[in-house]
Amino acid sequence: MDFKVTPSRLRDARVTVPGDKSISHRTLMLGSIATGRTEVNGFLAGEDCLATAAAMRALGVEIRQPEPTVMVIEGAGLHGLRPPQHDLDLGNSGTAMRLMAGLLAAQEFDSVLTGDESLRGRPMGRIVTPLTRMGAAIESDCDGTPPLQIKGGLQLRGIDYAMPIASAQVKSAILLAGLYADGLTKVTEPAVTRDHTERMLRAMGARVRTSTAGQGTIVTLEGGQALRACALDVPGDLSSATFIILGTLLSQDADILIENVGVNPTRTGVIDILLGMGANIELENRRRYGDEPVADIRVRASRLTGGAVDPTLVSLAIDEFPALFVAAAAARGTTTFSGLEELRVKESDRIAAMADGLRRLGIVVDESPDGAVVHGGRFSGGEVRSFHDHRVAMSLAMAATIAEDIVVIRDVDNVNTSFPGFETCVAGLGADVRLA
Ligand code: S3P
Repeated sequence: MDFKVTPSRLRDARVTVPGDKSISHRTLMLGSIATGRTEVNGFLAGEDCLATAAAMRALGVEIRQPEPTVMVIEGAGLHGLRPPQHDLDLGNSGTAMRLMAGLLAAQEFDSVLTGDESLRGRPMGRIVTPLTRMGAAIESDCDGTPPLQIKGGLQLRGIDYAMPIASAQVKSAILLAGLYADGLTKVTEPAVTRDHTERMLRAMGARVRTSTAGQGTIVTLEGGQALRACALDVPGDLSSATFIILGTLLSQDADILIENVGVNPTRTGVIDILLGMGANIELENRRRYGDEPVADIRVRASRLTGGAVDPTLVSLAIDEFPALFVAAAAARGTTTFSGLEELRVKESDRIAAMADGLRRLGIVVDESPDGAVVHGGRFSGGEVRSFHDHRVAMSLAMAATIAEDIVVIRDVDNVNTSFPGFETCVAGLGADVRLA
């Protein structure tokens, strides 16, 4: 499928976005190994999280979905997972594969993790190395990509691991394995990354200690701790809200309230970067869903100005750079992005994908190995590629709302991995985005 976007005027509105993808994955994994029933409300019924649900069911866990956004998980306990009868296909989801690898490395049985073409091209050495050091046996393809063959029946031991890259997926994989390991597991991250795993483990009764170390965090966890099931409310996904924030900022005069969005400080780098560019964004009605901070986000159309984006904010805004590239392209002046080398190994090479898309819309982009300089300009009409990347597709769709002519965005099916109903949601704001 493609998106066909006709230039359109956004109007004042209130809106909600689907549940947080990172948190939804974790509710399934932690709920499955907890003791008791976990009821999840606000679950993201997108393809990535549904792949995790299917994998947990294949591991013998009873999971019901009485409504699209409600999941009821009958926890099997720390040692209650059962051998799967087939390879576990995690679709497009790097989070599912890396976190599941940590969980499965500690089980009594063998398992195989695979995924779609994009996921089968993504680096897994970053989890294989620390998990192997814990005593796991995992084989990947010779270039370090999936499928992963995970051997069971090995007793893991805690490690003290300094992660060479800032990655919440790697940190979480190690912590999940650490739950089963002998002794203490200690992970040091070079920069702060999302801490949803730590918060949810604590909500389920585990003792997880964190302290700051330089630019990052040290997380420690003792092995053998049982988790207690609990009710979990999933906030709206700030990464999905970002596309609405972007569209509103670019619009002529819209004033939009996005309700119930997760504003965990390890995720809000995008707001700080946009505020630095002159965006009018306010957080209202701050509250908590369990351990996760939530707010309503008010955004008003704004004149943005480019500049140098602070590289220390990169890990706090890691999924938002496709949208930020569009903001930069619509801003006055030039915007310099650096420290983005991780973007090259996301669902697509997001630096190359966004440079390609913006150039096709008439924007000048100078690409570098770890970033780009984006020169502000006006978007022309045309045809652009999404590279099968959900966030590239949605970012270019929002750019297209202020283009000079119709824009067609190719191959947008993967929008369903994180934001099912995106086109209906933005149509409700006045954006003429249609599936074609
Ligand atoms: C995620 C962590 C990030 C992010 C991804 C979700 C998670 O990946 O890009 O979309 O849920 O832990 P990295 O840890 O590889 O940076």
